[in-house]
Amino acid sequence: MTDMSNGPIPIILDTDGGVDDAMAIIMALNAPQVDLKAITVVAGNIDVDQAAYNVLRVLSIAQPKSVPLVATGCERPLVRPPFNAAGIHGVDGLGELHRFEDAAGMARYPILNLKPSESDAIDVLLEAARTYGQHLTIITLGPLTNIATAIQRDAETMQRVGRIVTMGGAVTVPGNISAAAEFNFFVDPDAAQVVMESGIPVVLVGLDVAMKAPLPRHRVEDHLQRYPTQVAQFIADCTEIYMAFYRDNEGFYGCYVHDPLAVGILIDPSLATTERVHLMVETAGRFTTGMSLADRRDRRDEASNPPNVDVCLDVDTERFWQMFDELLWQAIAISG
Ligand code: RIB
Ligand code: CA
Repeated sequence: MTDMSNGPIPIILDTDGGVDDAMAIIMALNAPQVDLKAITVVAGNIDVDQAAYNVLRVLSIAQPKSVPLVATGCERPLVRPPFNAAGIHGVDGLGELHRFEDAAGMARYPILNLKPSESDAIDVLLEAARTYGQHLTIITLGPLTNIATAIQRDAETMQRVGRIVTMGGAVTVPGNISAAAEFNFFVDPDAAQVVMESGIPVVLVGLDVAMKAPLPRHRVEDHLQRYPTQVAQFIADCTEIYMAFYRDNEGFYGCYVHDPLAVGILIDPSLATTERVHLMVETAGRFTTGMSLADRRDRRDEASNPPNVDVCLDVDTERFWQMFDELLWQAIAISG
């Protein structure tokens, strides 16, 4: 469990503004174990400006006492062309919230008159590394473009970071966006490889564990029935399209909660069983671009391939779901 004797862990959360990102952000805002200093935004599920707007939407729903800075970052991958998941998370990245109306026929999610800060995400990451050093954890929920850009701009400063918990990759299971690759690593494989070879301690929360924690639709709807709060309504609304995608393509009506699981493992590393390996990300494969390849050979040459990543291979799902319920459903009663 997190060592609370030193107080909450200062974190920066880097996100690509999708549906599971939204749930992860709410969990992080409600977790006493972490101190969410800033949210940096990257293109991935949706374009970076929409992703930043989605983060502001989540903050308007969660209404945290202390509102983290929101800083926009990279709008395209380091090398590859932009690629998004609008077909999965909805054209707005949050389940097309404009569709919903309240009982009075008004927009349930009116247009927000909010903008992210003028700060640049890369500057925010570097400043946090300088300020918090080894105490800082960066958690990444999207492609690693922002983190890689910060490393390329000032590797020495980024070396001060305590650890990076990254939702990405697939080591012992197939990919999701391709046979070989998980989405975040597929979108920006070059950035992922920059991070893997950076020397910064990395904990990889990949599909190996994300696919062990499916969230069924009925749990979301049942919760909303029992506790009709603003957050419960938002979760039911923003997950509708995402879960329908899973129903029609993955064979179950629900969704994997990749990003919330990464937050859970950040908060309580004992949730996960890990293996320390040398991990490489394919950046130029004809069929395997974005593949996360771990050297797990018994006779691997650790001199030339030193272990660089702690890969999560199993997770205590029962304890994770307890944490998920505690941290996600913080009640803000629906007004009126
Ligand atoms: O492959 C799942 C990951 O890609 C999640 O972070 C999801 O939000 C998308 O970014
Ligand atoms: Ca994400």
